[in-house]
Amino acid sequence: MNVLVTGGLGYIGSHTVVELVAAGYKPVIVDSLVNSNRGCLSRLHTITNSEIPFYHMDISDSTKMRQILSKEKITGVIHFAALKAVGESVAKPLSYYANNVSSTISFLEDLEHLGIRQVVFSSSATVYGNPKSVPISEDFEVHAINPYGKTKSIIEELGRDLCANDSPWAWVNLRYFNPIGAHESGLIGEDPKGIPNNLLPYIAKVAAGSLPELVVFGDDWPTIDGTGVRDYIHVVDLAKGHIEALRYMERNRGEVTVNLGTGSGVSVLELISAFEKASGRKVPYRIGPRRQGDIAECFADSTKALKILNWRAHFNLERMCQDSWRWQAQNQRGYE
Ligand code: NAD
Ligand code: UD1
Repeated sequence: MNVLVTGGLGYIGSHTVVELVAAGYKPVIVDSLVNSNRGCLSRLHTITNSEIPFYHMDISDSTKMRQILSKEKITGVIHFAALKAVGESVAKPLSYYANNVSSTISFLEDLEHLGIRQVVFSSSATVYGNPKSVPISEDFEVHAINPYGKTKSIIEELGRDLCANDSPWAWVNLRYFNPIGAHESGLIGEDPKGIPNNLLPYIAKVAAGSLPELVVFGDDWPTIDGTGVRDYIHVVDLAKGHIEALRYMERNRGEVTVNLGTGSGVSVLELISAFEKASGRKVPYRIGPRRQGDIAECFADSTKALKILNWRAHFNLERMCQDSWRWQAQNQRGYE
């Protein structure tokens, strides 16, 4: 089966391409490189020992997209391509609605035109906003609180509408919790442009000495040690969830929404300590004020993923930190 991977040179997309090849699928990558680097492609060739077709383009280029979909005989899609910085989405909402929502609509019209009706969509735990309790299950109210999260909710709804009334579409919304880690080879990993927004890449850069210290955003949250609690999941586990979603769509039509998380919460201080152990480096930090828009705790109820997709996470926190550190230590300047 030939699978189009939009955003396939990004962090999660590139790891999913590796798992697709391992599972016998033929991935084809489309990426605008707005937040990724062409250097990732040769690393993918090395890891998979295969040539993976790559098209440098925006998914909204409908003419080119239709040519590729038919030339590459695509039958299913994993749709990662999106902008993902929460703060930037607040500052530039139009860019986020244009790049994430309008481009997706154009892309879906291309799929429909060619009769391709299997889509795995990258959603996010961010759609839950500030959840009423933890663990969070898929039937919790959706209440995104920033434009980025709203673009995810809108596309999820679009998928539901496409699947209504005995339609031929199959659509899986995967709500990711907090992906960290990297491929065990150390050849691919997360390569944020500029100063990282997210915790783990920031910790890795402090451990490597390229940033002086971490600021912990508040130690007065109602959590185990006062710092924020999240569900960190190894990116390879996450990638494997997409293979299970494709297999699910081979057997089922309609829409389904599934959390991909480990089901366990880890605090900021616990993550710092695990990373220090894995890297053998100190991670200097100080306590600062809370970050606007943050929540105390967020972790998944992952029972539906096991039931529907027969998927569960396998890698533990120690392994996530070891793999993140290997990638960081071997690639101080990312893919450059
Ligand atoms: P990423 O930025 O590394 O990857 C996204 C890729 O999409 C990049 O390579 C980028 O160049 C490409 N892209 C963006 N807009 C495009 C367009 N219009 N046309 C073609 N290519 C385009 O991000 P990631 O961490 O790999 O995330 C992948 C997906 O998962 C995104 O949809 C993101 O919103 C979602 N997600 C990520 C996280 C996370 O913490 N990383 C959590 C939840 C959900
Ligand atoms: C962020 C996004 C969310 C997105 C998720 C995964 C915000 C408000 N939310 O959430 O939409 O789905 O990433 O990409 O940006 N922390 C520090 N110091 C730092 C960075 C983070 O203490 O320098 C803390 C945070 O307060 C939080 C935890 O670390 O408690 C994790 O933060 P982060 O990696 O940004 O992820 P989320 O907050 O879950």
